[in-house]
Amino acid sequence: MKKGFMVVFDGSNGAGKTTVIKGVEKYLIAKGYDVLLTREPGGTPIGEKIREVILDPSTPEMSFMTELMLFGAGRAQHIEEKIVPALAQGKIVISDRFDAATFSFQHYARGIDLDTIMKINDLALAGFSPDMNIILDLDPNEGLKRVHSRGEGLDRLEDEKADFLAKARNGYLAQAKQTPERFEVIDAAQSKENVLTDVIRVIDTLLEKHH
Ligand code: TMP
Repeated sequence: MKKGFMVVFDGSNGAGKTTVIKGVEKYLIAKGYDVLLTREPGGTPIGEKIREVILDPSTPEMSFMTELMLFGAGRAQHIEEKIVPALAQGKIVISDRFDAATFSFQHYARGIDLDTIMKINDLALAGFSPDMNIILDLDPNEGLKRVHSRGEGLDRLEDEKADFLAKARNGYLAQAKQTPERFEVIDAAQSKENVLTDVIRVIDTLLEKHH
């Protein structure tokens, strides 16, 4: 049986993750792979309920620690209920965001100390780690313009001060620098076609490595 592996798409809000993920899914299915798409926050019935609580713009009073622990709680459920079983069945798991987002948003943007982030994340992950993080990198102002142009309202995190998303972006770039073997940064300011081409190149390398 083919061995499962997990790829995470992450990066700036509005960078085009959804479109890229759909393109990658189509590419892998055409090649005969079994693909599971999932997301964080969310991914499971419990995780989707937690997502609603986390992103609700009507509760700006949520403490940073509550937010961190809710992301951790959703992740623990996600791994146990959905990701580990899918990998055991040989599936390729593609997640729209995962643990790198906690470092970017809760540490680099919110400023929660690294020790605390690691404690919660380590509890949630319980030794698990995705195989690759593909970061779609984009100037956050450009990203927010795209979110606005889709006619969507801003969620609680997107509604933060202007430099919040810039700090989160730098968080992704910092993680990519620290652990280059687990991160690929793709320039999301390019055309959709070129972004997908760059991403497929990374996916092909992963397929060679894992199959
Ligand atoms: P989404 O809009 O890409 O679905 O992501 C929801 C928001 O949650 C996005 O602003 C990033 C944020 N987030 C965190 O702050 N920490 C995390 O651990 C995750 C997974 C997402």
